[in-house]
Amino acid sequence: MTSATIPGLSGTDNVPTRHKELLAWVAQVAELTEPDSVVFADGSDAEWERLTGKLVEAGTFTRLNDEKKPNSFLGNSDPSDVARVESRTYICSKEEIDAGPTNNWMEPSEMRTLMSDLYRGCMRGRTMYVVPFCMGPLDAADPKLGVELTDSEYVVVSMRVMTRMGQAALDKIGDDGFYVKALHSLGAPLAEGQADVPWPCNDTKYITHFPEDREIWSYGSGYGGNALLGKKCYSLRIASAMAHDEGWLAEHMLILKLISPEDKAYYIAAAFPSACGKTNLAMIQPTIPGWRAETIGDDIAWMRFGEDGRLYAVNPEYGFFGVAPGTNWDSNPNAMKTIDQGNSVFTNVGMTDDGDVWWEGLEGKPDHLIDWKGNDWTPESGTDAAHPNSRYCVPMAQCPSMAPEWDDPKGVPISAILFGGRRKTTVPLVTEARDWQHGVFMGATVGSEQTAAAEGTVGTVRRDPMAMLPFLGYNVGDYFQHWIDLGKNADESKLPKVFYVNWFRRGDDKRFLWPGFGENSRVLKWIVERIEHKAAGIETPIGVVPTAEALDIDGLDTTVEDVAEALAVNSDEWKAEIPLIQEWFDFVGEKLPTGIQDEFDALKQRLGA
Ligand code: GTP
Ligand code: MN
Ligand code: MN
Repeated sequence: MTSATIPGLSGTDNVPTRHKELLAWVAQVAELTEPDSVVFADGSDAEWERLTGKLVEAGTFTRLNDEKKPNSFLGNSDPSDVARVESRTYICSKEEIDAGPTNNWMEPSEMRTLMSDLYRGCMRGRTMYVVPFCMGPLDAADPKLGVELTDSEYVVVSMRVMTRMGQAALDKIGDDGFYVKALHSLGAPLAEGQADVPWPCNDTKYITHFPEDREIWSYGSGYGGNALLGKKCYSLRIASAMAHDEGWLAEHMLILKLISPEDKAYYIAAAFPSACGKTNLAMIQPTIPGWRAETIGDDIAWMRFGEDGRLYAVNPEYGFFGVAPGTNWDSNPNAMKTIDQGNSVFTNVGMTDDGDVWWEGLEGKPDHLIDWKGNDWTPESGTDAAHPNSRYCVPMAQCPSMAPEWDDPKGVPISAILFGGRRKTTVPLVTEARDWQHGVFMGATVGSEQTAAAEGTVGTVRRDPMAMLPFLGYNVGDYFQHWIDLGKNADESKLPKVFYVNWFRRGDDKRFLWPGFGENSRVLKWIVERIEHKAAGIETPIGVVPTAEALDIDGLDTTVEDVAEALAVNSDEWKAEIPLIQEWFDFVGEKLPTGIQDEFDALKQRLGA
């Protein structure tokens, strides 16, 4: 294969790989999509300069004030392209049953035909970038490589922040190495002489995964979760399918390092649904004296058993793609310090008159700014300056709370796994699972109230198993069985202990019973002391909860009554939960593992339900 056979690519100097199969794929996609030119991304500073410059020229990016946010850009999307599109996300396994009841499915060849028609000529007038990347450290024993083909410069620069991207990843793929194929197009070809828009995209969108082929096809959206294919598409949906085949776990989890006053480090992984506090907990600043915390990752954990029989977690990402609104110097100072160093891409936030960014909840509300839709905004406007799902995209290495071992390819040994969601009733502040299988049951039944629906309507809870509902690449019943099997085959004494937490329980007047954020360190302390067999707990039908004395509330600005209410196990509430779990398990259907059904039966029995 030479460059001459890749349409749009000229000169052998431009082909930085001899990987025949990769070049053939690039040629085949270029033939189908007809870009004006093909460029291999190398991940260099010069490339960043060139592409951000091009984006500024196109009106996609505005360069922020270098004194406020050095080397940073604001790119506001089309108002129709602001979030992941779950209704357009497909798992195209060969058999429908393997996608399971929680995913959209289409027969793979049918989907390929349909999308090939969409892709035909879809890059006309644009450049197609070949973006090699690696999820997790490049020097891992088995680095997880991928190549994204995209016609979006926004995607190329964002992938450089979020992943180990460029020549080093291409070198790892080598002359014949395996990589995940990830094809992305905005679906917005330009006719000869046609002017571009700042945020090209298409009303027709498909975010498609072929798990058996380890392949991703995305069309029509430029938004992060739909277009930065290394993140949710590869590191969760495709990786979960790989993990199922190979005996490991790809999870929607933060990874935290907690250090006790005795200087002992504990690594904790936690799965909460989107917008339920992962990034906040990952960067926590403990309020209790002597305890410290450091960050390993804030969104995704890949976990596998080490030779010593312990479960090790790796953060496959290289950047944060965090929710902006609500992030401020009080709620998350580490995130603010990370952002302030610059080298960031902001999407759908407001821009102040002095060229800085602003969003709801940030200190220093300005008197005037340009909102995410490009309109003049003042505090009286009555509209949001930033979209509720606006994001900052910034290198993890800049975060002051990063643990030194955050990019160690070995990963970190996990002592505790936390599941949690947003529940204003029923679920106590913290509950310890009786054993691994009970912990899997807890994860399998995680429910969370959507923020908007949360006020008022009791009982409208969406089940989000292990916070993976939108990210599972295969059948959810098989997924539960996989979790159970991993525990069965492990040395039980070395397995992480499992806990269920809920920062969001409310009192009669709707106030939060627990102050949350940095104060969550008190719960983490109890968890660590349970691991060390030092803290007391009470056996309840749902698991072990702290005694009033066991939870350290010294200096806490909350009444003892509120804490007791946050910890309470109310059997009437739990009896009301049973039919909701039953409904969910009916939906899971034929593949619900016996182990999970056994746990459910035992819970009902303990509750007398
Ligand atoms: P994704 O990045 O979308 O996967 O979500 P995430 O889990 O990282 O969510 P994030 O940390 O951005 O969630 C933030 C939301 O949770 C904000 O509305 C916070 O105010 C709220 N939040 C985080 N921690 C706490 C807490 O301890 N107590 C309360 N009451 N709210 C919290
Ligand atoms: Mn997430
Ligand atoms: Mn997050």
